[in-house]
Amino acid sequence: MVDFNQYYTSKNLSDLLSRFITLVEPRTCLELSAGEGALLDALKAKWEGIKCTTVDIDPTNHSLLQEKYPLDEHFCADATSENCINILQDKEYDLAVCNPPFQTINTNEIINKYIKDAFEIEFKYQKKIRAEIIFLAINLLHVKTGGVLAIIVPELIIKGLKYNKFRRALFSNYKLQYLVESTHKAFKKTEAKTYILFLKKEKIDIIYKFTHIKVDSQAFLENENIYDITNLYSPDDSVQKKILPNHYEIIRGNISGKICKTLGLPYIHTTNMVENMSTIEFNENKFPSEYKTAAAGDIIISRVGTRVLGKTNIICLGNVILSDCVFAIRFTNIADKNRFLAYWKTNSDEWISTNSTGTCAKHITKKSLMELIDTIILTE
Ligand SMILES: C[S@@+](CC[C@H](N)C(=O)[O-])C[C@H]1O[C@@H](n2cnc3c(N)ncnc32)[C@H](O)[C@@H]1O
Repeated sequence: MVDFNQYYTSKNLSDLLSRFITLVEPRTCLELSAGEGALLDALKAKWEGIKCTTVDIDPTNHSLLQEKYPLDEHFCADATSENCINILQDKEYDLAVCNPPFQTINTNEIINKYIKDAFEIEFKYQKKIRAEIIFLAINLLHVKTGGVLAIIVPELIIKGLKYNKFRRALFSNYKLQYLVESTHKAFKKTEAKTYILFLKKEKIDIIYKFTHIKVDSQAFLENENIYDITNLYSPDDSVQKKILPNHYEIIRGNISGKICKTLGLPYIHTTNMVENMSTIEFNENKFPSEYKTAAAGDIIISRVGTRVLGKTNIICLGNVILSDCVFAIRFTNIADKNRFLAYWKTNSDEWISTNSTGTCAKHITKKSLMELIDTIILTE
């Protein structure tokens, strides 16, 4: 198990990150979730005299950083906690660099305040939030006006429909200079496609341009393009939801598991699904048209049931009647289906814990599943 989401930054990626920092001679730098200091190594190689302040939750990393850079300032703390507010107080840095943990965390008043202060938006009714958003907020609040934040974020922050409003606030309050897109698996052991955002603390009221750079798996430059910032978000949060109408369909059964049982026909319900992520096969059946059915290729997901919520089977042959406790996702193209399955295999537990609704009887809604699928497949 990896504690505290400790996927360390590769040297190539750290060097790349330091290369795009436009500041001439930054004197002070903040690094939250500094880990073993890979980013600091790259910064120190470029600006020998830079004074760094690090925060990491892990005492082992904290000691390692103290040993490696004894002249700098190191704190062992949860960067999102009140303790860290006391550590950072109203200090401001020329530069901040960050490879935050990719995870969701519970919101609280401190976190809500950070978001409001940094982006002038509120997420106050959400129970959980992406840690990357909090780390963005804390960093930006502690960078001087005109200073720069370079931060590594997962694809969902850049492309996720759910984060459209957040991106609009982020890129209106801070100027995106570069967006560096890294290939999949830039970090070992994680499927997440990653990006580095280079944000200047400068508010601009016009539509500005940013440079989008693609790098390969070794962090070597592949190509570069200039786009309007509005390419990264929509002015209207509802508009994008209609972008992908023909890529997939989510079908929910229209009869209960109990009724399914009485029909004497093959059906799939939460109680007869097989092991998670396994394939299942059926005969080719002819069913009365009033029943919703799933067919070969469909992904069946249990939408209710405490112990089986999110359980997934893939139909490889035949067809079957669906109970109203399961969804069948039918993709038009195999590449989209594979991308979804790759994501779902590793991240479904975390996604379900954040996105299932209902107080005792948790369930997954069609809308939230659609948002997730749109996020996953809306990438190229
Ligand atoms: C993705 S690693 C980044 C490591 C660093 N950039 C490097 O490459 O060496 C994440 C780091 O964040 C730390 N971390 C996780 N949650 C944290 C939190 N809430 N506050 C401070 N540090 C945290 C972990 O201990 C880990 O060292």
